[in-house]
Formats: sequence, C-alpha cells, structure tokens
Amino acid sequence: MCGIFGYIGKNNAKEKLIEGLENLEYRGYDSSGVAIVQNGQIHIVKKAGKVCVLKDELLQSDLDGHCGIAHTRWATHGLPTELNAHPHTDSKNQLCLVHNGIIENYISLKKEFNLTTKTQSDTEVIAELIAKIKEKDNLEKIKKACSFLKGSYALAVIFENEPDAIYLAKKESPLMTTYGEDGIYISSDANAFKKYANNFYILKNNEFAKIKNNDIEFYNKNSKINKKLNNFEKTFSFENKNEFLMQDEIMQTPDALKETALFFENFKNLKNYFDNIDNIYLIGCGTAYHSCLLGKKYLEFLNIPIFSEIASEFRYSNVKPSKKSLCIFVSQSGETADTIACIKKCNCKTLAITNVPNSSITFNCKKTILMKAGWERAVASTKAYCCQLLVFYLIKCLLKNEKPKWKQLVSSCKKYLKKNNIKDISKKVLNFEKIMFIGRQEDYVTAMESSLKLKEISYINCIACPSGELKHGTLALVDENTLVVLISTKSSLHNKNLLSKQEIEARKGCCFVASNIINSEIELPNLNSDLMPIMSILPFQLLACEVCISKGYNPDKPRNLSKSVTVE
Ligand code: M6R
Repeated sequence: MCGIFGYIGKNNAKEKLIEGLENLEYRGYDSSGVAIVQNGQIHIVKKAGKVCVLKDELLQSDLDGHCGIAHTRWATHGLPTELNAHPHTDSKNQLCLVHNGIIENYISLKKEFNLTTKTQSDTEVIAELIAKIKEKDNLEKIKKACSFLKGSYALAVIFENEPDAIYLAKKESPLMTTYGEDGIYISSDANAFKKYANNFYILKNNEFAKIKNNDIEFYNKNSKINKKLNNFEKTFSFENKNEFLMQDEIMQTPDALKETALFFENFKNLKNYFDNIDNIYLIGCGTAYHSCLLGKKYLEFLNIPIFSEIASEFRYSNVKPSKKSLCIFVSQSGETADTIACIKKCNCKTLAITNVPNSSITFNCKKTILMKAGWERAVASTKAYCCQLLVFYLIKCLLKNEKPKWKQLVSSCKKYLKKNNIKDISKKVLNFEKIMFIGRQEDYVTAMESSLKLKEISYINCIACPSGELKHGTLALVDENTLVVLISTKSSLHNKNLLSKQEIEARKGCCFVASNIINSEIELPNLNSDLMPIMSILPFQLLACEVCISKGYNPDKPRNLSKSVTVE
C-alpha cells in the first residue's frame, strides 16, 4: 500500500518521479506528491486524486532538479486530501519525508515528545520526531527516531541542511534501491526502476541507507554494512494491448499458466517437503484465500487434516500449527501484512506460493514456489489466481506421480478467451439490483471468487452462496430483481444444482447457468475436473471487467482499494 519512488542523478528528477509514480500507482491512488531539490531548496508539490492530477501540475511547473522523492498514497490515517498527502515536513521545514506503513504509537509519541502536527497523518509525527532529535548527524537522527517507532515503515528522507542526499529506513514495509544507468533509484517495488538497472539492493528490517555523491552506503543500527545485489528474475514481458491493465492481464492467463507450469520443474525437489507432516494449513487473504480453499481440495487425497485459513483471522486465533505442520502461504504480491504476520506464528515447515521474487513472504518462509504470472498491476487479481490454482494442481500431480495435463488447460483458456459471449451477458447483468453466485464444492469457491471480483470493481452488492444453502436463509433475498448465476461443472452434482435453479425461478428470480454439462447461458469447455476451476473463473473475471467498464469505472483502480495490502 502506498508507493515510494526516489531519484538522485544527472537527469531531471521531475520526469523520473512522474514515471515512477505511474508505475507504482497500483499501490494506492488517493493522492500523491513529490519533493524536488532545486538550487539547494526543497520544493514540495502535492495533489489529492490520481497521479495524473499531480502530473499535470508538475508538467506546468518549472521545477528543475536532480534529486527528489515521491509518494502515491492509499489513505490509512486521515482523508485523502492534499494536506494529508506525502511528502510531510516538520514544522520548521528542516526535512521532508515519504512513508509507507503505519506508525501504531503515533498518538503516544505526540504526547511523549510534545509534538504538534497540522495533518491527520501518522507520518507527520515521524518528521516532527526526527527534527526533534538532538544528534547532529542526519543518519543518527533517523536511527534514533526509528528506535521510538512501533509499527511498519519504509522511509525516504531529505534534509534541508543536506539537500544532495536521500536517507532511507525500513521496517516491515518493502524498500529497494539501485545504481541505475543515470543515477540512483529508490522504490517500494523494484519493477518500477527495472528499466534502468540490472540488479538492486533490498533493505532488510532495521536497515538504513545514505545516498549521496553517487554512492549508496548501508547501515544497520550499529554500523556500516555490506549488502549483496539481487538480480531481477527473468520474466517474460507482456504487451499492453487494451485500454485497461485488467483486460490485458486476463488475456495473458494462458501464457502465465504455461510459464508457471514450465517453471514449476525447478521446484520438483520440494516433494520431500510434504513427508512426515501431520497436517497442512493454507493461509491467504481475499483471492489468495480462495486459492487456499481450492488448494485444500487438490490436497485432500493426502488424507491428513487440511485447514484453509483467512490470514487476518488466523493471526489472532488461538490455534498454533504444531512442529509437524506444513504451512503454505499464498500471496500474489508476497507483501500482504496479514499473511506475513501468520508466518511469524509458525514454528514448522513453511512454504510460500507467490508471484514476486525477493518479496517479504519469500524471506520469511523456508521454501518458495515462484509463479511466473508476470507483473500483475490491476487491483483485481486474475491471472495470478489461475496460476495459484495451477501450482496446487501441479503439487498434487507431483505428489501422486502423475503427469500434469496443463497443456490442455492452456489451449482451452486460449480458445475461451478468443471466443465467448460475456459482453452480451454483461449487458443483461446490468439490469439487476442483486446478484448471487451459487455452486457446490469447487464451483462454490468459484462463486465466491466471482462475487469478490464483481463487487470489487463494479461496486454491485453481490454475494456467493453454496447452492444447497439457499433454502436455509439466502433464498429470502430472491425476487424479480435478482440474478442468480449458477456455476455447475460437476456432472455428479448437476441435477442437484438444477433443483436450485427451479427454486430460484419459482421466486421470480432470474437464473443464468454457467456449465460444461448442458447448453447454458455461459458455456464452459469440458476439462478434467482438476483443471476445471482454473478455467471456470475466466468468464467471471471477464464479466466483472465488462460490467465495470460499462458502468464507466476504471477496473484497474477501484475505489478504496490497493493492490498490495502491506498494512493491517
Ligand atoms: O497479494 P496477495 O495475493 O497477498 O493479496 C491478497 C488480497 O489482498 C488480494 O487477493 C485481493 O483480494 C484482490 N484485490 C482480489 O482481487
């Protein structure tokens, strides 16, 4: 959540910062701002709204400098106003800083240090606190101030008395820096400066950096340290062909699946990791949690207890995995705070399934299976979800010594994405006030994910319900304004599903069926039952996207949300 970008080098910082913010906008887009040093003076420009608002303002300004920091915000404390946008300064303008994360003790710090602030943001307290520290050296000021902070932070700071330097500090929130071809770059996501560098440094918790004179010096709490460079993982790049990233990302699913399946060859040695375990916990949030629900189905053949857990709940539950548990953490971004908090509670085998190499989740888990879905930037997760399910399917095949049939899956997805009737269906969907997705077993999970996708980007109040549960309460909602989408891909349960259809229609509700079994409103290709859930979500990802666009919204940047939920 929130994006930090920084540049210090021979080129124009304003252009670099705009480009960086555009790349990071998926992390938050309530407001944004930059601080640029011109002739030794720090100039701050901030705007409420999307990055394009700030960009317009900056392009008209004659700000010209070679050092600057920038931030795109997802509001946690205070409204998304210009005042609350970063960079924040102390009251005497001795320094300015941008911050990702949450300072949990900012209220008590204000009292303890008698700090006065003008904004509602927790970040301003950090600026005031650093300014208040008596140490002469700027790095020591930051170190000392950080020792009082509770919570998470990635910080980039510029001091008025040293305007040719940028200081960094990190705890829990990601922060990276690199020597680029024309200067030094800083970002909360290395992808944002990938174009300019071959490798990069990742700050670890309680590490600091001083960037000055074309040099990066790293420190821990006590001394200067040496750090090793990380390479960018080779990943195939996708072209952007459509107006919105989400459209592109759905269309990239077949390639993402293929790359993930090929790359899985590197993880076959993980087979032994499943030996001598008593139970498995599958943990994630949102869409990744839905992957965990299906992951449980893929692994049920092991005949040991398997629990799928919502990370934000599991972190506070009294249940603690035992020493013989295997905990699998699923996260596209690898940075989800709730999921990472759960890893810390596990004293057992831990395995990450993620799309982002060198992410916090990979550092915290003992083993990692990396997917190759390519950069997913639209807030609604699509191709990454399909790849997460594929990984579970590939694990199943690996453990059962079966040859995976992913090639069939790839070609069916490709065909379906080329030819489908979802545009027409989306027009009909717009006529209903209430929408429900129903299904049984794997199809119920697809219903949950479909409902999440639709509400997330089109703001339609929709729910998911297991077909058999309708008559235990939810059926009361069904009337002539209700559309129920019944997902039915399991022939053994199809007749039962048709009973639900009749129950809905008897209450004047409209029922669309999505099935590979009978002629239906949404016709699905026939695939092996293990592959079906990976494919059967595609129509509903497309549907959510179509409905959203026809309502005039931007699917890539739904209101109130952010791609990477790095705060609790
Ligand atoms: O990066 P993660 O997979 O850990 O993210 C978890 C959820 O925040 C994420 O899946 C969210 O639910 C998506 N926006 C859904 O489309």
